[in-house]
Amino acid sequence: MNADSGTNPKTGTLTIGNEHHSFPIHHGTSGPDVLDIGKLYGKAGIFTYDPGFTSTASCESKITYVDGDEGVLLYRGYPIEHLAERGDFLETSYLLLYGDLPTAAEKKDFDFRITRHTMIHEQMVRFYQGFRRDAHPMAVMVGCVGALSAFYHDSIDISDPHQRMVASMRMIAKMPTIAAMAYKYTSGQPFVYPKNDLGYSANFLRMCFAVPFEEYQVDPVLARAMDRIFILHADNEQGASSSTVRLAGSSGANPFACIAAGIACLWGPAHGGANEAALQMLSGIGTPERVPDFIRRAKDPDDSFRLMGFGHRVYKNYDPRARVMRDICHEVLADTGADDTLLQVAMELERVALHDEYFIEKKLYPNLDFYSGITLNAMGFPPSMFTAVFALARTAGWIAQWMEMISDPSQKIGRPRQLYTGSTRRDYVDIKRRG
Ligand code: ACO
Repeated sequence: MNADSGTNPKTGTLTIGNEHHSFPIHHGTSGPDVLDIGKLYGKAGIFTYDPGFTSTASCESKITYVDGDEGVLLYRGYPIEHLAERGDFLETSYLLLYGDLPTAAEKKDFDFRITRHTMIHEQMVRFYQGFRRDAHPMAVMVGCVGALSAFYHDSIDISDPHQRMVASMRMIAKMPTIAAMAYKYTSGQPFVYPKNDLGYSANFLRMCFAVPFEEYQVDPVLARAMDRIFILHADNEQGASSSTVRLAGSSGANPFACIAAGIACLWGPAHGGANEAALQMLSGIGTPERVPDFIRRAKDPDDSFRLMGFGHRVYKNYDPRARVMRDICHEVLADTGADDTLLQVAMELERVALHDEYFIEKKLYPNLDFYSGITLNAMGFPPSMFTAVFALARTAGWIAQWMEMISDPSQKIGRPRQLYTGSTRRDYVDIKRRG
């Protein structure tokens, strides 16, 4: 950590009662400084209280930087727009994992290593049969990813850097297979095995949409759209699911269990589930003419309706991912010839909201989820698969966050404290004497 240097010491002082306590302030390379209160309890016998971590940095990281006021998202310093425009998802995964863009030789080697791991153990294929046919794909994914630790014993020793890397490769490689099989299982179709002469995203589309009785040609426009969607979702610094992965990993849990924990967290509607809600909302609005009514409802304090896909805890400006997603949405709709009514509704909603005082004042802008539901739907995915696609892509970021934490020699188990407001000590009363 960039602690205070002797030439530029910077400390913060907390005054508690009559006592003053001084703490170091650390500087990052970007973003606000942090007050290091690690010794606060030892010095002052008091905890800090910050449910929701609104003012608390939970770790030091070199992976992803978000400037929510400016609408900036950088992976290892590279703007998300540049990566989505010029890079590909496996290159982005390499970048997140290793810290730098690969050379051509490194990229070739990485692609090859990922491609060699795309199959899942045949016994795992039978594991799917234990789920009900109507299981949500996210439920299946939580189960199957957690179960990987039962199938790949040679990559769960987290003290061995080689095993950590093999586990990481396995998860990036197998996640499309696991997600596609979850989709095939719930739709009652036979599994399609990976085809390794296809690229990562094309392979995923084929595993989702091919059927045994006809040839499936991957549409290159959709494969590129899929790849860019994966890039946009790959990481977003310490979001709820990444923090979950770190916390689970801090106990020394195996990597497959940690990523399964991240998937479980992502499933929630306030996180990865909002794309489905945004699509439902746009379908509910139906036509651009009805937009003003819904804007009125979103502003009404007595109405619980919110614009789904709008607003973000960190982005108080246009989410840079939403802009790229909007372009992808146009490309996909033009390519597939799908009905673009919902896109028209979305664009009108965005236009009206961005000129409305309520949304301007509260800094509410479209987030990544605003256009992603329409796009994924036009590509052929049912709403229940939207969060599974998100989980697949975010695996790269989760693994990078987990690897960074485990490789840090000063890493300790995460153990938050609490403000206890329950009963104080009391004596046990025999059941016959309770009244
Ligand atoms: N529509 C209408 N009003 C909104 C919206 C919205 N989508 N979002 C926030 N507001 C208003 C709130 O009513 C509140 O108003 P108030 O100050 O008068 O009470 C104010 O803006 C601040 O909102 P909070 O909920 O306090 O902001 P917070 O940072 O806690 O919430 C959140 C962020 C959960 C994303 C919120 O904006 C929301 O519910 N958005 C819709 C769901 C959504 O799109 N989630 C996806 C997140 S992105 C992702 O996971 C990839």
